[in-house]
Amino acid sequence: MTQIIRKALDQHQDDKEKLFQEFLSFLRMPSVSNSNEHKEDMLKTADFLVKKLSDIGFQHAESFPTGRHPIVYAEYVVDPEKPTILLYGHYDVQPTDPLDEWRSAPFEPHLEGDYLYARGASDMKGQIWATISALQSVLQSSDLAINVKYLIEGEEEIGSPSLAGFMEEHKSMLACDFVLNPDAGMIAPDKPTIVYALRGLAYFELKITGPKSDLHSGSFGGVVANPANVLSRLIAAMHDNKGKVMLPGFYDDVREITENESLELSRLGIDENFYKKISGVPNLGGEEDFDPIERVGARPTLDVNGLYSGFIEKGAKTIIPAFALAKISCRLVPDQDPQKVLIGFRKFLEEQVPSSVIWELKLMSGAPAYIAGEETPGLEAFKKALKATWNVDPVLKREGGSIPVATEMKEILGVDSIITGFGLPDDQIHSPNERLHLPTQQKGVEALIRFFLGF
Ligand code: BES
Ligand code: MN
Repeated sequence: MTQIIRKALDQHQDDKEKLFQEFLSFLRMPSVSNSNEHKEDMLKTADFLVKKLSDIGFQHAESFPTGRHPIVYAEYVVDPEKPTILLYGHYDVQPTDPLDEWRSAPFEPHLEGDYLYARGASDMKGQIWATISALQSVLQSSDLAINVKYLIEGEEEIGSPSLAGFMEEHKSMLACDFVLNPDAGMIAPDKPTIVYALRGLAYFELKITGPKSDLHSGSFGGVVANPANVLSRLIAAMHDNKGKVMLPGFYDDVREITENESLELSRLGIDENFYKKISGVPNLGGEEDFDPIERVGARPTLDVNGLYSGFIEKGAKTIIPAFALAKISCRLVPDQDPQKVLIGFRKFLEEQVPSSVIWELKLMSGAPAYIAGEETPGLEAFKKALKATWNVDPVLKREGGSIPVATEMKEILGVDSIITGFGLPDDQIHSPNERLHLPTQQKGVEALIRFFLGF
């Protein structure tokens, strides 16, 4: 191990306890982006990050207002001639509902063994904190040979509505050679992971409207079509019984994976049992003809995320609901276009919806999939840092989740992203009792120290 790495790792040992206390403060901030309820908290969280980044030595740190929640930007320029890395993070978190399923309050971080429970602990305040911790010790203990820019948005969990515009507007400020995006995770604590492909997303709201208000289900049942019944029938028709999505043209542009890649993926051991264990289901669903890892990484899906119609309180009430609504997401794979999926969806509805109701389909957000280019600068250095920390070669995988910003950065800034992270598959992100495995985060800090000093 080189002297400078040793020095930075030692420095981190000294800083560790204080950093952990600050991490807890970060987690206590309820930075939920999906409503205006936490607008103030979002501002405070952004200011907290600006302050921390300046405290650890960033020469410039600023919070930029947007239409919704501020974007934090900071930079540490050693020498404009040297390579530049752009770090990405999001300080916003998912809402906490259903609240009564949490075993401890989501914004009161709670330690249980090696796990720290809190909303955002894994997705992705813990990842931001690993990066900041590594930078703190590196900047204190030696000179960097790479310029560092840090962009942290507050709208990722709502589809990053302000980010593309911000990047267009600040192209030269954000100019860099590559991006490090730790918003994904590892497949197991002993398997450092790099994600080379992510799925895209097309998120829809489908509304079926019937009578002008809820009706008595006795007086009108049998003559007025029930929007909830109609919606259920439509949803059922969206898949065949082998798990294939039935929207017209849905698979037309899907880029097939090579046999070689399929073989590589199957070696990761992410099989049926892996998913059964982690999700607690008795058996898997989805497209029968593909391996689970392929179904998640390389095949598109259609899923109902939420349903709303009629009487959903306790007890009984006899009505025919006035409308029925479904939130539906399609995860997309390389070469699929969200707009084309929308056209196929409309066509499906034109063919299938009976004339007894009115339908309305909205595309709420859309983002194409991401697949890394052949050569990402910094990738070799990052692999080396992971290997030196875990003593194994990192695994390369496709991820089923979406990080639309990776595609946007490629389009707007012209750079590839190294997508990684130190969360684990059972961190329960987006769910009650989200948690972070602290020893793995700790290793992440070490790996990041090695990485920043590896240039
Ligand atoms: N960190 C996740 C993406 C992710 C999930 C990566 C699981 C790796 C494993 C990110 O914060 C997220 O949830 N993204 C949204 C994007 C959407 C709101 C556009 C997603 O995937 O649902
Ligand atoms: Mn995230």
